[in-house]
Amino acid sequence: MNKFYITTPIYYVNDKPHIGHAYTSVAADILARWHKSQGEEVFFLTGTDEHGAKVAQAAEKAGQSPKDFCDNRAQDFQDAWKLFNVKYDKFIRTTDAAHEAAIKRALQRMYERDFIYQGTYEGLYCTGCEQYKIADDLIDGKCPEHQVEPQLMKEESYFFKLSFFGRELAKRISNDELLIEPKERKSEVLNFIRSGLNDISISRKNVKWGIPLPFDKEHTTYVWVDALLNYLTGLGWDGDNEKELKFWPADAQLMAKDIVRVHSTIWPGLLLALNQGFKLPKRFFVHGFFTINGQKMSKSLGNVIWPEEMVAKFSADASRYLLAASTPFGHDGDISWEKLTEKYNADLANGLGNLVSRVFNIIEKNFDGKIKAKKDKIDIAAEMENFKLYQALEKIIAKIDWANKKIDETKLWELVKTNKGEAQKTLAELLGAIIAIGEALAPFMPETAGKILAAAKAEKIQKREGLFPRIK
Ligand code: MSP
Repeated sequence: MNKFYITTPIYYVNDKPHIGHAYTSVAADILARWHKSQGEEVFFLTGTDEHGAKVAQAAEKAGQSPKDFCDNRAQDFQDAWKLFNVKYDKFIRTTDAAHEAAIKRALQRMYERDFIYQGTYEGLYCTGCEQYKIADDLIDGKCPEHQVEPQLMKEESYFFKLSFFGRELAKRISNDELLIEPKERKSEVLNFIRSGLNDISISRKNVKWGIPLPFDKEHTTYVWVDALLNYLTGLGWDGDNEKELKFWPADAQLMAKDIVRVHSTIWPGLLLALNQGFKLPKRFFVHGFFTINGQKMSKSLGNVIWPEEMVAKFSADASRYLLAASTPFGHDGDISWEKLTEKYNADLANGLGNLVSRVFNIIEKNFDGKIKAKKDKIDIAAEMENFKLYQALEKIIAKIDWANKKIDETKLWELVKTNKGEAQKTLAELLGAIIAIGEALAPFMPETAGKILAAAKAEKIQKREGLFPRIK
């Protein structure tokens, strides 16, 4: 049996989950469900990134202890995924005791293998990114992502010998042993690596909220080192037992473009530092950013769409559909309440909902609920294998449009009266199409697909209204 291990980034708990986070998680869920439907053994990992200065500051601002704050926020993320019907196999938290123990063991191992050494770091640090910045990263002296001037920091620190792995990483990425998609992201990463990787500072003396270094308790572990290894600890890795990890290597790691560089450098660098024979993840898929009315979604701009608002308005299934169908996966996409509502009404209310209710209605009224469906299939395998969720949905929508058009063109509601035999043939095709649509939609809209398939395959087909009521 083939296995399929898919991950999302683990999200920082300083922010509440919004639909940008939901985008990645829903996409991962769709892919996990698809692979399961293909008979593969799937492991889907997601979770929360809870250590570091940014989270500690957010906790202080909220007047909570870091631990309580993280517990609450981790729960918020789990609640959000429940709302969207995202079914992960494991939710990892970097404050889990098993994760912390594994990180310590891993650091000790890399230290003993001479990939960690002591030094002093001086540089500009952006807490928003939890990363040191170089002049080239800044625009007008500010971090373009967070619009703040990074702080000058000088401190004793431990370093990770990332520079040692530059050539090896460039080789393995350029020959697609670690496949980075879309292609533009691969080129971006390769240029970055080939321009020379520096060793990175991986400990903090002034940040208390973190995992202490096992060989120097005055330091805590840099949050990215702690976080990236979640993709192993989430599988039960204890810092040492990689031979027993059934699901390793990862088959698909999803992320947005903001974090592809760290994922392509520090992450595989750590794996090689732990064990030169460690397999690297097989594939990264890097998607774009959602913007709202052309602006980055952010709490301070007040333009965030929250999961609970979206699901309350459209339902879980329709929200999943809208997230996947609004932008080709891999590109940036602009959304707004208006655009989402328009798409909902066009594709789901007038498209799918209308199709099902018209066809079932005619079958119930004129054929006593009995029509034998003609076999049909929408082949979306190639699209799904290649993360082309949007294109897979386009194929499904094309089938819905085809079917609705067929009803109109054949004037089916008249045809059943003038030529029942011909109408029966057309209905057999339409019912077959509806079943094919239900099957193809299953990973995207599991509840709706289940309802459609159960109703379409019932002994007696019954009228079905209100699958997707029109929304203003
Ligand atoms: N904690 C790190 C990741 C560590 S992984 C070892 C982090 N967290 S984050 O909360 O900032 O989440 C970033 C990820 O959330 C993005 O890579 C993307 O998957 C998702 N998104 C957050 N906002 C988004 C949009 N506005 N649009 C699309 N995806 C977004 O980085």
